Amino acid sequence: MGFFLKKTVIEPEHKISLAAQGNSVHLRESTSFADIGEKGPIVEIFENIKKIPGWFNLDDCEHFYLLLAYQSILGIKGDLLEIGSYHGRSASLMASCLQPKEIIVICDAFEANIDGIYENKPTQTILLSNIKQINPNLDDNKIIIKACLSSNLQLDQDNLFRFIHIDGGHSAEQVYLDLKLCSEHILSKGIIVIDDYNNKQWPGVAVGTDKFMAENKNFSILADMNRHGALGRKLYLTKNH
Ligand SMILES: C[S@@+](CC[C@H](N)C(=O)[O-])C[C@H]1O[C@@H](n2cnc3c(N)ncnc32)[C@H](O)[C@@H]1O
Repeated sequence: MGFFLKKTVIEPEHKISLAAQGNSVHLRESTSFADIGEKGPIVEIFENIKKIPGWFNLDDCEHFYLLLAYQSILGIKGDLLEIGSYHGRSASLMASCLQPKEIIVICDAFEANIDGIYENKPTQTILLSNIKQINPNLDDNKIIIKACLSSNLQLDQDNLFRFIHIDGGHSAEQVYLDLKLCSEHILSKGIIVIDDYNNKQWPGVAVGTDKFMAENKNFSILADMNRHGALGRKLYLTKNH
């Protein structure tokens, strides 16, 4: 398909920003008054979530919460899907926004992750226990864990999602294939979020996403979000109709 193999290319100007990140990385998780003022209720949720290993930051937490809550207020009903959960930091926040009759489906390669880039690999047991710790009243049957590479992820035809977070394999080919699969299971006006868009450490994410967007005119960019202390943006897509 003409994709580049995943590789890490750190260009000179990016080296500068990596160095600069040393001064701002604390903002990813800071909930101190000096950085954000008086804490609101979502910050209190984040303070629990940030005990779980992961990269999902305070900005992400607030963006996800806002969109998921707004979908529910608009009456948009559907399940949630995450590809790439790690220990469940982002999945825990998503799970906390589940409405009655909605479930969350989570796909992760766990120990089978061939990239070998993640220390402290998650297990299904750890993932489930982290999500339950944040959401003690959530029924186990609302959390479906699929332990596989997303290229082997089987979804039922009637699995329809209102919100999907793609944060698994970061190669161009994998991101493109994940988007293709998700595009077949996202509701009209549903939202697909792609992590690490335009992160120069993961150039494949933008390549795969841009290819998908060029071929799928039924999707629009809802928002392209920088986040404090993160080098990659999160790209929010929506299905037009
Ligand atoms: C960046 S971490 C996810 C972080 C998590 N979303 C968060 O914000 O806390 C990526 C995860 O994707 C998983 N992964 C990597 N490649 C994958 C693939 N091809 N299919 C499924 N999962 C994959 C890894 O095992 C890892 O747990």
